[in-house]
Formats: sequence, structure tokens, C-alpha cells
Amino acid sequence: MNETTHFGYQTIDYDEKNARVGAVFDSVASRYDIMNDVMSFGVHRLWKDWYVWQTDVKPGETVLDLAAGTGDISARLGKKMRAPGHGGDVSGQLIVSDINAEMLARGRERLLNEGFLANVDFVLANAEALPFADNSIDLITMAFGLRNVTDQAQAIKEMHRVLKPGGRVLVLEFSKPTSSLLSKAYDWYSFNFLPQMGQWIAGDRESYQYLAESIRMHPDQDTLQTMFSEAGFAKVAYQNINKGIVAIHKGVKA
Ligand SMILES: C[S@@+](CC[C@H](N)C(=O)[O-])C[C@H]1O[C@@H](n2cnc3c(N)ncnc32)[C@H](O)[C@@H]1O
Repeated sequence: MNETTHFGYQTIDYDEKNARVGAVFDSVASRYDIMNDVMSFGVHRLWKDWYVWQTDVKPGETVLDLAAGTGDISARLGKKMRAPGHGGDVSGQLIVSDINAEMLARGRERLLNEGFLANVDFVLANAEALPFADNSIDLITMAFGLRNVTDQAQAIKEMHRVLKPGGRVLVLEFSKPTSSLLSKAYDWYSFNFLPQMGQWIAGDRESYQYLAESIRMHPDQDTLQTMFSEAGFAKVAYQNINKGIVAIHKGVKA
């Protein structure tokens, strides 16, 4: 019998998930940035600023931005990695990575437009099987990506493998609201406003229905924290933002 997994609320064959998620991001790539602004009323920019500030990224580090998509996090990291007196170049190495060629192409264009030339690499890769050496990375970020990965425990193990001892991971993801009143309002917004906006702006209701469902299927804060501990991470912790609408998960490789 084939193993199954979930795609939003649907049960599908395990081997089918990457292709289904791939189709979502192929479809939304061209409208991805504007949809983020509309769906979050611009607030995703503040979440991302705060998240990147929390990474404490420094010039000279080797940094891997997983599920980088159109480059929102990579560009923020790159700005903090610029060494004074070296023009716009990143000091150290910034690896911008995604499983989806369409999304990564947009990320690449974005970073080039922002003047990042030297020391930035673009790598098409599945987070479940990273093409990087053991103990080679100082910092890994993954924003709004883990939810889409078929085998999340495997992706977290891979992050642990490629980090240097003392290296840190920070994952930003939608999470479980901590107030039941907020939860009700958020459900209404997710299953009515989101798919309708998806239809109007991106001509794609289904992808935004998937977004709402995938958030509900994602492990809650405590479960995800346990997964980080089980992968071997030390100093695991999480921080709720906007009452748990999103959360930042952190861990350090001992
Ligand atoms: C919602 S976007 C997030 C993009 C960006 N990090 C941001 O915060 O705007 C999710 C990204 O995860 C990528 N993704 C999905 N499954 C993946 C996997 N198994 N490995 C790596 N990236 C994956 C998608 O291609 C997509 O670009």
C-alpha cells in the first residue's frame, strides 16, 4: 500500500506532494509578492524584519536561506551581511535556495536588482536532501517554507547536519493562535477573505484555499519545538508573534 500524506485537507500519495506544492508555487509566483501585501495588510514585512533581526546575522558568515522563494528574507539577510567599504557585496556567503525554479528565478532577479553580485549563490534544492557538506553553515533561515515540506522531520535533520557546531537555525512559520476569539476571526478571514483575494488578484482560488488549509495542518508550537529537539538541536525555543498567528522557532547545533 502507498504511504499517504496531507495536501491541505486532502489525503494524497506521499510521492505526489512535492509536485502538488510545486504546482501551487508555479501558479502564484508572478503574484506572490503583491498577494503577501494584500493578505497580511503589509504586516508580513514587519514579521520578516523582526525575524531577520533575531537571526543576529553578521558579515563573514555562511548563511543558507531555505525555501527562499522571491527573496524577501535573503535580501534582508544580504543587507546585514554587507561589509562596510566593500560596495554592495556580501561578506561571507549567502546561499539562496528553493525547490521551485520559478520562485528561485524571481528571488535571483530580486537580489540582482538590489545590487547583490559577489558571494551570493542560488541553489535549486529540496530541503529534505540538502546538497551541502556536513558542518558547513553558520545560520539557516526558512520562512513560511517548512509547512510545505512533505517530510518535515527529515528537513529539520538535514538543517542540523549541515550546520556547524554552534550554528543556529531560525524558522518563521504560521502557527496556532493562542486566543480562541482570535482563532474564530482568523478562521473566517482564512476561509473567506483569502481564497476570494486569491481569485481576484491572482486568478487562483485553490492555491489560497491550500494556504489556509496547510496552516491548519501544520504542527503547533510545542509539537514543532519537540521536532527540533528530536533532531538534536539544543537551546530550542519559540516566540509567538501576534498571539501565535506566526511563530519563530530557534535551535542551536551543540
Ligand atoms: C510561502 S513561500 C516562502 C518564500 C519566502 N521564504 C518568504 O518568506 O516570502 C514557500 C516556498 O517554499 C518552497 N518549498 C516548498 N517545498 C519545499 C521543499 N521541500 N524544499 C525547499 N523549498 C520548498 C516553495 O517553492 C516556495 O517558494
